[in-house]
Amino acid sequence: MMEALPQLFMRHPNLEQLPPLALPHGFSLHNHIEGTEKNWETLIERAFGNHYSFDDFIRNGGGYKPEYVLYLSKDGKDIATTTAVEKDIFPNEGWFRMVGVDPSARGLGAGRLIALAALHSLAARGYKTAVLSTDDDRIPALNLYYSLGFRPIFTHESHEKRWAAVLPRLRTK
Ligand SMILES: CC(C)(COP(=O)(O)OP(=O)(O)OC[C@H]1O[C@@H](n2cnc3c(N)ncnc32)[C@H](O)[C@@H]1OP(=O)(O)O)[C@@H](O)C(=O)NCCC(=O)NCCS
Repeated sequence: MMEALPQLFMRHPNLEQLPPLALPHGFSLHNHIEGTEKNWETLIERAFGNHYSFDDFIRNGGGYKPEYVLYLSKDGKDIATTTAVEKDIFPNEGWFRMVGVDPSARGLGAGRLIALAALHSLAARGYKTAVLSTDDDRIPALNLYYSLGFRPIFTHESHEKRWAAVLPRLRTK
């Protein structure tokens, strides 16, 4: 059986010069409220098309605090989420994961806002850089991360070739 390849990794080199977070009218941010895990699971299931357990992915993922799980609401309804933590393989760097936007709210800037909110949250906690991982075929997410300043890092022998295939598909400037 073929061994599964690791995801692609990207690093943001400088969280000290992030663009400001400006929420348009009707949008607001809030942290996770204990007891509302099903809401996260529903939003993530709609965004990713798969079910993920809050306990497995977030609460037991290391370093969990409710305030590390962010939600963006539009007109009072949660439309996007992500979680800003630290991962043991990248000590002293921020890490954000499980970025998802409800399919009914795509293309409105919600993904950019929630990702930027996560980066500001990491910067406020003292992190100077951030790392993330994603899949080769997640072109919208890869475009978003690239446009926020993340750049590829090569941590596996397959990465160089895979990035060479991915980069021409992105809106890199
Ligand atoms: C990736 C995702 C979070 C983007 O959310 P979104 O709210 O639609 O994105 P935004 O409207 O904020 O767009 C921000 C940037 O993302 C990129 N992007 C968004 N949709 C895109 C698309 N359909 N094709 C290519 N790039 C796209 C662009 O760079 C865009 O910036 P621009 O509009 O200035 O070009 C959303 O598509 C999603 O939830 N996907 C499924 C889950 C997923 O893949 N999560 C990431 C796992 S690592």
